[in-house]
Amino acid sequence: MKNPTIAIVGATGAVGAEFFDCLTKRNFPLGELKALASARSLGKTIAFRGQKIAVEELTENSFAGVDIALFSAGASISRKFAPIAVTAGAVVIDNSSAFRMDQDVPLVIPEINAHRISEHKGIIANPNCSAITALVPLWPIRRKNRIRRVILSTYQAASGAGAAAMEELEQSTRAFLDGKPYHQRVLPHAYAFNVFSHNTAVDPHTGYNDEETKVIRETRKILEDDAIAVGVTCIRVPVLRAHSQSITFECEKPITEEEVRAILSDSPGVRIVDDRVKNYFPMPIDASGQDDVLVGRIRKDLSDPSGHSIAIFVAADQLLKGAALNAVQIAEHLVNPGGR
Ligand code: A2P
Repeated sequence: MKNPTIAIVGATGAVGAEFFDCLTKRNFPLGELKALASARSLGKTIAFRGQKIAVEELTENSFAGVDIALFSAGASISRKFAPIAVTAGAVVIDNSSAFRMDQDVPLVIPEINAHRISEHKGIIANPNCSAITALVPLWPIRRKNRIRRVILSTYQAASGAGAAAMEELEQSTRAFLDGKPYHQRVLPHAYAFNVFSHNTAVDPHTGYNDEETKVIRETRKILEDDAIAVGVTCIRVPVLRAHSQSITFECEKPITEEEVRAILSDSPGVRIVDDRVKNYFPMPIDASGQDDVLVGRIRKDLSDPSGHSIAIFVAADQLLKGAALNAVQIAEHLVNPGGR
């Protein structure tokens, strides 16, 4: 697949914008590029490599001649249009949750399981952003010393809920500071100066929300380890972009913070930010616009005197490694298997 024609579905969205940037920054070898969104966006143009691309309405006829379709317009759009794109001859890289747990669909973080890409039957799924953020640093540790249990809490940015949620955070913060009322339209609770449990549906029996369930299931699928125990709490915080996580993991064999630091200092997609003297650790503001997952606060978990457990704090750009960048890396493997 040389110089493929690419279609971006959801081109006007928060992740959509990052697809264009990633293709430019990574000098992706492109044939043509199509920008697809809803009829609401007709008339809009997108600046790309010195040209203006007119946004087209997504229809069943959008995929003729398309080699790779990057989808980020929500699960219902993916469910309807991804099979249509595949029938038209495209390989779909889907950022939604629609197909992630399908047996026939590889769920790929290229640093971990790029070898699964070639097994696709037309659709490759991009994992949930919280799963990607946790697993990029956990994977290289697990390769040396199996992780049998992980407990994580997320601090998730507005970007994960799309461009409209980012706008809501800005507008509601401005209204709060001006002493004006604000009625939220996108997220279920007041967002300015507040935190709340993740806005996905909560299972009334288990008490876990959909985001948490995705992290548990996708972790097991990506690591190919059904036995790993995962405890997770997902929280939305008033940050514009880049998710953070507090993670504690327990390994099968004893492990020290020095070993973890040594492993992570040589791991793809990871950058250590861990300055105890300056109290400088991963922050979403530093992770924004960055490709790497920032990892710090690497320390022994004092609640486990056996020496098997380590605590870390991480931050990663949800729109990049958590979404667009991961998908473009997968596309690079399609174009150049075994390449970067
Ligand atoms: P549009 O801007 O025309 O509504 P975000 O994740 O930031 O909320 O963005 C969602 C993306 O999905 C946008 O590009 C949006 O396009 C697109 N989208 C939403 N609904 C549809 C639809 N029915 N058909 C095509 N694209 C859609």
